[in-house]
Amino acid sequence: MGRLTGLVALVTGAGGGEMGGGGAGIARVLAREGAIVAVNDLHEDYARATADQITRSGGQSFVLAGDVSDPRQANEMVSSVIARCGRLDILVNNAARLGRTPAVERMSDEEWHSDIAVNLSGPFYMSRAALPHMMQREYGRIINIGSLAALRASLNGGAGYTSSKRGLLGLTRQLAAEFYPYNITVNAVLPAGILSGRLRAEMGERAEALVATRRWALPDDIGQICAYLASPEAHLISASVIVVPGVNATGLGDFSQYRAMARQMGKDIGE
Ligand SMILES: NC(=O)c1ccc[n+]([C@@H]2O[C@H](COP(=O)([O-])OP(=O)(O)OC[C@H]3O[C@@H](n4cnc5c(N)ncnc54)[C@H](O)[C@@H]3O)[C@@H](O)[C@H]2O)c1
Repeated sequence: MGRLTGLVALVTGAGGGEMGGGGAGIARVLAREGAIVAVNDLHEDYARATADQITRSGGQSFVLAGDVSDPRQANEMVSSVIARCGRLDILVNNAARLGRTPAVERMSDEEWHSDIAVNLSGPFYMSRAALPHMMQREYGRIINIGSLAALRASLNGGAGYTSSKRGLLGLTRQLAAEFYPYNITVNAVLPAGILSGRLRAEMGERAEALVATRRWALPDDIGQICAYLASPEAHLISASVIVVPGVNATGLGDFSQYRAMARQMGKDIGE
């Protein structure tokens, strides 16, 4: 029996299966630990890749397509988990708007608002929908996947990404304080680099060298951390921020080093 047997989890942005990233890894590990996992992503086929991978390996999973940045869809997704399973014990807010955005002076309103909508409002809408059900059963585990960018600065994203991930730390603390009496814990996990299945396949030997140094997280590594936080044993841990520095264990604290690294990666960081 796994440590999550009998529990129901919803993981946002968990599509892609073998080619997916952190979300898929979290869904896989929670299922391996015995949870029934609702796999959310924007598109049904993409979510299905992970749900099928889980069921093929003997776990229990189903697809939950929808956009976390839309409050109506967030409510509907939670309602559909309740209708199907009768409960929702674990919510992992992993979905994020990833990718490069320009330096601030060239960033559009739309780019800024999209980052906030998916990375910060999404976890708020999903948590707000899930909490009444968790309160009723007096069991809840909410895990917000942030980023080391929240403590430093983003090498890949930009101001919207960094600010939304920093805001997620505030949401984590506030929810932890409000819902602790109901045996609901709320924590944040801050990865630095996650080597998705797709990137690993594309990078070939270079990726294997990185994996060998154990300095870059694989999707299931993030899943292992979430599995513990989601378990009954972790009931004393709330409002915690777990940093998973991996490849960025050193550096980045120094902004001149940050700028040199960002330029090296071809990022637009202005003058
Ligand atoms: N990849 C990294 O190196 C890295 C570094 C630090 C933090 N993180 C964080 O870790 C988490 C996982 O990142 P990942 O790169 O492994 O990506 P991932 O494979 O988990 O992909 C995120 C998923 O979110 C989905 N998504 C985007 N907008 C959505 C929406 N509105 N509604 C529902 N789903 C939506 C995407 O389709 C994608 O499948 C993210 O929160 C990310 O910000 C990643």
